[in-house]
Amino acid sequence: MRIDIRVEPPGSNARKIVSIIDNLCAKSTFTYPLVIHDGEGCYIRDVDDNIYLDFTSNICSTPLGYSHQAVISVLKEYSNNGAHKIAGQDFYSIEHAKLAEKILSIVPNNFKVFFINSGAEAVENAIKVAYRYTKKSVGLSCIGAFHGRTLGALTFTYSKQVHKKDYPELPVKRIRFNSVEELDELKDLSNISFIIIEVIQGESGYNIASKPFIDKIHKISKEQGIPLIVDEVQSGMGRTGRWWAYQHYGIEPDIMSVAKGLQVGATLYNKRFDPEAGAISSTWGGGHRIDMAIGAAIIDTIEREHLLDNARDMGAILLKRFKEIKDRFDVIVDVRGIGLMIGLEFVTSKIRDDIIHNSFKRGLLLLPGGSKAIRIAPPLIIGKDEIDEGLYVFEDVLKRSILSS
Ligand SMILES: Cc1ncc(COP(=O)(O)O)c(C=O)c1O
Repeated sequence: MRIDIRVEPPGSNARKIVSIIDNLCAKSTFTYPLVIHDGEGCYIRDVDDNIYLDFTSNICSTPLGYSHQAVISVLKEYSNNGAHKIAGQDFYSIEHAKLAEKILSIVPNNFKVFFINSGAEAVENAIKVAYRYTKKSVGLSCIGAFHGRTLGALTFTYSKQVHKKDYPELPVKRIRFNSVEELDELKDLSNISFIIIEVIQGESGYNIASKPFIDKIHKISKEQGIPLIVDEVQSGMGRTGRWWAYQHYGIEPDIMSVAKGLQVGATLYNKRFDPEAGAISSTWGGGHRIDMAIGAAIIDTIEREHLLDNARDMGAILLKRFKEIKDRFDVIVDVRGIGLMIGLEFVTSKIRDDIIHNSFKRGLLLLPGGSKAIRIAPPLIIGKDEIDEGLYVFEDVLKRSILSS
């Protein structure tokens, strides 16, 4: 497949669907009027037959891109199985067992897993596991963090006002991301129940934690016996060229939250935190049998096709080429990234938004982050041809957007 824009997006089929959703559904966070029909490799086809190159992986949730054989065969296998979604914390299934074995093979030893629906719920249960263990009330989190929108997780999210305004909070202590000084100034830690962190802040535009900052947090967690929760919902599942972003820092978390690329949410924790039966559960947790089977197939495929190496290699090429583009265009003020998790910071949100919008019209899908950043997160299967194609469109859009602004 290649980018192929046949009618100016949104075409008439897309406009009809967008208008129904806009009229009937809660206002949400749609970036542009893309109505997805299907996809292949790193490309998505919309309902008007336009083909786009996807540099978003649906916010990191399609690590194998679209229509990967490993995923299609699971879908075929289940096409005649009407018991595809069950109450997975109340009834057993083989998919539950298999995904547990798979995910526990790629996290620290002595971990257990609890499956749930979403990333926010994976965080929600991570903090519940910590509260139950420590019996303390205050969570320590970072400014700029995004941990989800359910009320518990939302307390520790602190990226955009709109997420939080008027919603009540749990007890929290917030520090500036990457501020070792603020960590040094923390005096009384006796009521801290857990520290929760994204080592690469996702929603805020791929801000990367410094090694001294993570080292210090890790040290505090170890010395004070405060559980360290690492939120890998966006940065995990191979996105950074390793299974988990924390592995770039030589530390291990006590508790983790995972979702997106895994297809289901997962709270993972060291066995010493194991709460009593019933402390955490849910109807659908562990019950999306097709999603769980696909999650296991994704882990297998990332291993079999050496996609961690590919994420690292293609990420290095993309990072270098974006840095070269930055040197030619002073509207880009920063380029940063690890693996296929790259953030581009622009001078203004207007130019950032123009570039995202104009790239969409030209068939390249990009994602905003923070107030002025673009997130680049293509599927882990991306190759050099797609990089060339995407960067050609990106640079051309950049030139034209600057000329017309
Ligand atoms: C780091 C992180 N944590 C939690 C969440 C919440 O996940 P979900 O949208 O599946 O609830 C997200 C979603 O973007 C995320 O990036």
